[in-house]
Amino acid sequence: MLKKEDNEKLCRTNSGTPMGEVFRSYWIPALLTEEVPEADCPPVRLKLLGEELVAFRDSEGKVAILDAYCPHRRAHLFWGRNEECGIRCVYHGWKFDQAGNCVDMPNEPDNSKFKHRVKLTSYPTWEKSGIIWTYMGKGEQPSYPDFEWLRAPDTHFQVSKTYEGCNWLQALEGGIDTSHSSFAHNNNIQDKKSMRSRATNPKLEVDKTDYGFRYVGIRDLKDDGNYIRAYQFIMPAQQMRGQMIKWHDGSREDYPTVRGHIWVPIDDESVWVWNFKYTSEPSIPLDPKFSLEQEILFGRGPDDVLPGYRLKRNPSNDYLIDRELQRTKTFTGIKGVNTQDYALQETMEKPFIDRTKERLGTADLAIIAARQMLLEAIRDLEEGRQPKGVNPETYRNVRACDRFLPKGIDWREGLAEDMQAKF
Ligand code: FES
Ligand SMILES: [Fe+2]
Repeated sequence: MLKKEDNEKLCRTNSGTPMGEVFRSYWIPALLTEEVPEADCPPVRLKLLGEELVAFRDSEGKVAILDAYCPHRRAHLFWGRNEECGIRCVYHGWKFDQAGNCVDMPNEPDNSKFKHRVKLTSYPTWEKSGIIWTYMGKGEQPSYPDFEWLRAPDTHFQVSKTYEGCNWLQALEGGIDTSHSSFAHNNNIQDKKSMRSRATNPKLEVDKTDYGFRYVGIRDLKDDGNYIRAYQFIMPAQQMRGQMIKWHDGSREDYPTVRGHIWVPIDDESVWVWNFKYTSEPSIPLDPKFSLEQEILFGRGPDDVLPGYRLKRNPSNDYLIDRELQRTKTFTGIKGVNTQDYALQETMEKPFIDRTKERLGTADLAIIAARQMLLEAIRDLEEGRQPKGVNPETYRNVRACDRFLPKGIDWREGLAEDMQAKF
């Protein structure tokens, strides 16, 4: 449960709001490289943190992110012509370069100096690993992000993004929430032997760090030891999780990957979910077939996504819920692991959940920790301190993992090596 004013503070991210200012302290993912694939390609619309923007790749290959509305008479620059290192508004021909300078004003007298007094808001960009990042703050630019996955070579790494129609915080909280996987993501209710079915009440432990916190869900498998899922929450909106399942006697090993999400608010009622994965062993490249299988499993395969990175299974069709499947095979009857999440999160209260009415239990420890940390970041900024996780040194060497550990071994010790970056 949260006080009403704290809930408002955390959920709203437009310019000038407390959490909006926190988000504007970090580099955030803005676009996939594939959205502006080559110099002078068509411009794209973009909305981030409640701001309507337009993006284009100029003639020199640099990606520009500008205010969407032309400062002349407010036409949308999405209609613009991307030509010779600038975007030209098609209403009266004003042209802007990637830094937002007005470089041509052909409907004014030749000797007019007016164009030198007109400027459009522009945000700096940085391109890495198929993602165009932006910094929307006013102060000095922080160092570029340096997550381990940004250092993994392209052969080992894959990224996608999907639209989710809910407030960013309920999407993030869903990612952090580990106990729901025994229920919402149980895709074989007959299988009583799976780790999830054997222990539905993981014990949570949270360790705060300089970048956010790391935490584990410990599932007690009795004589078989503990199944431990170790995660990182990296401020302000990233979560990493492991996917290497290894029995302590070495008898079972799945494909070793680390996965994660970053949740970037579009506005107060929608969010871009960035999905990344990479192999956790530098000697093993990411198998494209495995990668595709995973995307399909999570509900974002080629047949699952509509233009604009929206899912075919969405609130307009009740996520194509199959009640017979729900009765006989899967807990939700909805196909796609992340689609199951979206169904639950997108249909909560609008514009965002009323956290004054929640009843949180011990399984919600990590969610409570994330809220505290985000509120702390708001206070840090208000009091002139840099929020946690802005400095890449704080997180560059961490990673998440999934492991079985024998009883009696503390995860901090047993997983120390597996939670160290290898790239
Ligand atoms: S509105 Fe863009 S040039 Fe007039
Ligand atoms: Fe989930």
